[in-house]
Amino acid sequence: IPVDLFDLVIFGGTGDLAQRKILPALFRRFCGGQMPKGARIIAAARTNLSQSDYKAMITNAIQAYGGNQANDAVALEAFLDCLTYTRVDATGDIGWPELSTLMAQGQGARVSIFYFSVGPNLFGPLAERLHKHGLAQDSSRIVVEKPFGRDLESARALNATLATHFSEGQIYRIDHYLGKETVQNLMAIRFGNMLFEPLWNSQYVDHIQITVAETVGIAGREAYYDRSGAMRDMMQNHLMQLLCLIAMEPPAKFDPDAVRDEKLKVIRALDTVEPHHIVRGQYQAQQGADDRHDSYRETVGNLRSTTESYIALRAHISNWRWAGTPFYLRTGKKLVARSSVINVFFKDAPHSIFGEEAGRHANLLSIRLQPNEGITLKVTIKEPGPGGMRLMDVPLDMTFSEALGAAGGNPPDAYERLIMDVIRGNQTLFMRGDEVEAAWAWTDPIIAGWQARGDVPKPYDSGSTGPDDADLLMRRDLREWQGIN
Ligand code: BG6
Repeated sequence: IPVDLFDLVIFGGTGDLAQRKILPALFRRFCGGQMPKGARIIAAARTNLSQSDYKAMITNAIQAYGGNQANDAVALEAFLDCLTYTRVDATGDIGWPELSTLMAQGQGARVSIFYFSVGPNLFGPLAERLHKHGLAQDSSRIVVEKPFGRDLESARALNATLATHFSEGQIYRIDHYLGKETVQNLMAIRFGNMLFEPLWNSQYVDHIQITVAETVGIAGREAYYDRSGAMRDMMQNHLMQLLCLIAMEPPAKFDPDAVRDEKLKVIRALDTVEPHHIVRGQYQAQQGADDRHDSYRETVGNLRSTTESYIALRAHISNWRWAGTPFYLRTGKKLVARSSVINVFFKDAPHSIFGEEAGRHANLLSIRLQPNEGITLKVTIKEPGPGGMRLMDVPLDMTFSEALGAAGGNPPDAYERLIMDVIRGNQTLFMRGDEVEAAWAWTDPIIAGWQARGDVPKPYDSGSTGPDDADLLMRRDLREWQGIN
């Protein structure tokens, strides 16, 4: 279904995100017939580029990141016709009158969207100039990317800056995890099935593990990453969002404020994490490997860096539903496999009618977010054969690509969904200002704690499952991680 007619201005139009994600996503939606005729994409950046140079740059980007449809030369040409490049200086006056003229040329009623695909230091200047040049209308929308601040104070300042010229209903803060098909599926699984929700509490759930393991390192973004680390880069946002979706109360409706109110309550109910429930790690060159440059410190060019590329922690949500149930969260770079999975471990049956020798068996619901998206429920059955009543665990497995065919095997990229939602004016999958601030309010004391203690991350081998201490964190609770193979 085509969306409303729109003008989308991308500030940072020559940047990495525009080339790798935003424009390829728009191209795929164009091919999917969702972009209405007459919609315009206006890429703005400081560089002086001709239309043809810019289009050549984007052609390359789409060929690299646009998927199979990028081979369709006719579609690509038609898409490029919707694209205009214009030179604009975010901090000066160059290009603004031209941008205003360009916007005024749009025929008919259209939604105007300004995508701030730039560093947060430019959010304020951009908002200011949009206002000054009469481009910030009540109906315009702005899109901002993470990092949304680096602590509570800076996030508050950013929110205040944006609020000078835009209302909360006009601001779309992207956490691309919320645009992932399988992440949205978490809500469908929880609230679309009668089966799980009655058991979804501390009475039946022993604990929950959320793993986001990556094989990539930080090459190419050293400066940003070394100032951030895994806590700010992943935990405060992506893992926090997963935690919210898995732990929140059922919202009354699938509507922006109903969903975001419930997520906010989860964040606000989080206890401060105890220092001995946190493990920070930093990858080092794999022992015996040829590639000596594969260590975090060598990559960032700072042999004394104490930034973590891995973090694991045990969180508690102090509310009626979850009191007493630990949530173990971990994420890291240069791990042995790329695997994002949520494991819900149910408690043992209260009494085994089969006696001691049947062993202990408990259900486990694994929700695989990527790759190999799907769900597995581990159930207990009788071991086949005449040897008495012995029990074993087997998986009830559903892989989306098998169950849904092509539609399940090739889910749209998160940016396709999110950009279309901005045009539709649906904020459900975007973070509200108070949510971001609450997440920083939880993160800040944890970071302050390790800074005060002079904590140094534990080394772990590239290509491993993370530092040994993360396993210890579990073993002390008589549990173990599952989720990275
Ligand atoms: C980004 C982080 O937000 O998410 C990166 O800044 C990380 O460090 C990326 O690699 C992971 O996203 P995905 O979609 O590949 O899981």
